Amino acid sequence: MAPGPICAAAQCSFDDPEPGHVPRPSGLVGAVATCEAGDMVNEVVDITEKLSLFSEHWSPKVVARLNDYEIKVVKVKGEFVWHTHDDTDELFLVVAGELSIQLRDGDVRLSAGQLFVVPRGVEHCPVADGEVHALLIEPTGVVNTGDAGGALTAAYDDSLA
Ligand code: NI
Repeated sequence: MAPGPICAAAQCSFDDPEPGHVPRPSGLVGAVATCEAGDMVNEVVDITEKLSLFSEHWSPKVVARLNDYEIKVVKVKGEFVWHTHDDTDELFLVVAGELSIQLRDGDVRLSAGQLFVVPRGVEHCPVADGEVHALLIEPTGVVNTGDAGGALTAAYDDSLA
């Protein structure tokens, strides 16, 4: 993979950031808008509070970062689209509600406090009868609809980070 764009302010790149700097994807896979010094001092992330700040469904929002991974919160309701992430596993942790993750060989049902990791390359489709609040852990830049695209593809949103 070629080196990513250089952050003019920080003089570090997406693929090889300076220590303490956090690449900020622009929403397009592999593209970087800016790169800022990480502010990780004594900042507690309150999942419930973050979830109270928005109401839209199927629009994951970054709330924290962990090495090259992002922790996101999301509200979902109804059926998503069948899709696959060829390059990564994807972790779902239900915070509130009941979430089903449909898989081609059987569904997984999660209650609050339960998590499931969808292995890379495994086609899946979340569905929820009522509203579900969940936390996702996945590498930076993962697109929610994976290979499927379409109307439910969410713009990259780290406004709550
Ligand atoms: Ni997925």
